[in-house]
Amino acid sequence: MTTLQNKIVVVVGGSSGIGFGVALAALQSFASVVIIASSNADRVAGAVARLQAHKLPGEVRGEVLDAKDAAAVKKFALSLGAIDHVAWTSGDVQKLDSTDAFSVRFWGPLILAQNATFRPGGSLTFTSGILDVKPRAGRVVSAGVCSALEGLAKGLAVDLAPIRVNVIGPGAIETEIWDKVPIAVQDQFRKELEKNQLIKRIGEPQEIAEAYLFLMKCGYITGERINVDGGVALA
Ligand SMILES: NC(=O)c1ccc[n+]([C@@H]2O[C@H](COP(=O)([O-])OP(=O)(O)OC[C@H]3O[C@@H](n4cnc5c(N)ncnc54)[C@H](OP(=O)(O)O)[C@@H]3O)[C@@H](O)[C@H]2O)c1
Repeated sequence: MTTLQNKIVVVVGGSSGIGFGVALAALQSFASVVIIASSNADRVAGAVARLQAHKLPGEVRGEVLDAKDAAAVKKFALSLGAIDHVAWTSGDVQKLDSTDAFSVRFWGPLILAQNATFRPGGSLTFTSGILDVKPRAGRVVSAGVCSALEGLAKGLAVDLAPIRVNVIGPGAIETEIWDKVPIAVQDQFRKELEKNQLIKRIGEPQEIAEAYLFLMKCGYITGERINVDGGVALA
């Protein structure tokens, strides 16, 4: 099996949820350095400590980055030096269906892609969702972001080749994102999501992290989208 030995992996959004799962999986796959970045300094520090507590061989670093700030994203990308893989999982739940959603989930990854330096074999993986596959009422901007990210990955795959660019579409994944949904609504929402997919449960961050690791390790896949969604489109 391919590992991430001697690889530098950057996870923007690594302070919680899917991104934290990716950062941990990269360390478990022997990445030599894992850099996590997100906007809240306390959450970054907490996540670095939780990752280090696993006592895996790789080095863990944390950076504070507000992905809404285009200049900061550019500066961050340039400051990284040569890296191998980037997973972008940052998303701001407060902004889910505002036009701001594009700042953190679309423009941020694009600016990073245009300014980062990748070593041969490098890759970028974006995070969309399944709202463009199965739209929900009132979530029109999020549906647009999901489609846009697929186009962005394809366009950048051509522009940055042979650096590989792909996108993952998560279904319902058990992360801190749920903490922001009011408890009263949460139960009903969860039940509905579980019912409307083939695999009748919410997914785990470590399950979807496998898909990010696959896209980092498999050197022959680019411009693709993988949905990790319990079969939502077929239910
Ligand atoms: N979980 C799901 O069911 C699901 C389903 C479909 C799509 N998604 C998408 O997958 C992505 C990850 O979701 P998740 O479930 O892992 O959510 P999460 O646990 O809330 O993680 C979101 C991450 O984004 C970071 N973030 C938020 N605002 C930011 C900003 N302005 N700049 C930089 N980082 C920022 C957060 O860190 P800070 O607070 O420290 O900034 C955190 O690390 C999101 O785009 C989400 O929309 C999730």
